Amino acid sequence: MRDVFIIGTGMTPFGELWDRSLRDLYVEAALAAIDDAAVDRLDSMYVGCMTSGLFVGQEHIGALMADYLGRTPIPATRVESACASGGIAVRQAYLEIASGASEVVLAGGVEKMNDGADVTSALAAASDQEYEAYQGITFPGLYALIARAHMHRYGTTREQLARVAVKNHRHGALNPKAQFQFEITIDQVLNSTQVADPLRLLDCSPVTDGAAAVILASAEVAGKLKGHPAVKITASAQASDTFALHNRQDLTHLGAVQRAGELAFIQAGRTIDDIDVVELHDCFTIAELCAMEALGIAEPGKAAALVETGETTLGGRLPINTSGGLKAKGHPVGASGVAQIVELTTQLRGTAGKRQVEGARLALAQNMGGTGASCTVHILEGAA
Ligand code: COA
Repeated sequence: MRDVFIIGTGMTPFGELWDRSLRDLYVEAALAAIDDAAVDRLDSMYVGCMTSGLFVGQEHIGALMADYLGRTPIPATRVESACASGGIAVRQAYLEIASGASEVVLAGGVEKMNDGADVTSALAAASDQEYEAYQGITFPGLYALIARAHMHRYGTTREQLARVAVKNHRHGALNPKAQFQFEITIDQVLNSTQVADPLRLLDCSPVTDGAAAVILASAEVAGKLKGHPAVKITASAQASDTFALHNRQDLTHLGAVQRAGELAFIQAGRTIDDIDVVELHDCFTIAELCAMEALGIAEPGKAAALVETGETTLGGRLPINTSGGLKAKGHPVGASGVAQIVELTTQLRGTAGKRQVEGARLALAQNMGGTGASCTVHILEGAA
């Protein structure tokens, strides 16, 4: 397998973007990434998108985006794996270059959620229709079950969950592209509207429009570019887990996250102790804690205590979700996995401004679909 580098990144603002359509968003992010990379060549492209059919009635969006990007006749492939669509789009682009099939590939992710669809039902299409959605449970409801199990098993408190949201909003306040650029307090989280007990409004990622894109290239192409310090993808791993929550041995354990993490650490020849900055899939506050435990950032049941120490806040030993995470930056579901790679590339280039992690050299992104039935983990390495 050949080495693969990130040579360009682009991202729209995240939020309620009433003046932009699905295709506008993808093309805006893709053009920004192409511009950033300063390359003309594009051999192939991917579109990570969860459910444009349900959100805006549009399918067949690989070819649609190639057309509106002015890049026909290159191969254009849509990738769908619920909220992990973006991470898997990046992985497919990575594999295409690593295999030698292509030299320069665009991996973008997009979602237009605020166009009048029944968002909760559309999102529920990523859960088990027969055993979960049909019974009336929503995604906030499924993660509420995980949160209850974590509280019961480990004594995790409501306040500890709130601290994850407070941290991510603190980071999001420093990100000019985030949907929510303001800080919140623990009291505000605890007093926000009940969504699915014990999760409240401020435990949830929001409904978001947005797109993100990266350009990946072989060493030969990346070596000729002068624009940015090279960021190498040293691991790209993917795993799956039981689809419905009731089939899990332990509701608090994210098996696909653990597996993808283990594979990624082996591929990169690194351990979690080598990592300087992390983007985790915090679709709900409890998800960040479970992902930390599955990746070995904390022992099972100990993630909440680690968050309380401040070690995962900017300035701490291992900052998590410097972008604001899905909670504050926003969660346009198919785009989030790509946006994580954009944030970490920015960190490794040393251009993250007020949210820069000093001296960041190794970064990890974890992106998952549903309640963790699909997951990718990428490890990125900046220049020494
Ligand atoms: N965090 C912070 N603020 C939020 C928010 C969130 N998650 N969601 C909405 N808000 C704010 C809105 O900006 C709005 O503020 P304003 O009154 O100042 O304009 C207010 O809360 C009400 O917004 P509204 O759109 O009416 O909220 P809602 O009740 O329709 O939706 C949720 C709230 C939590 C149900 C919705 O955000 C949601 O479904 N989130 C989960 C998404 C999800 O499941 N993603 C997939 C994960 S696997």
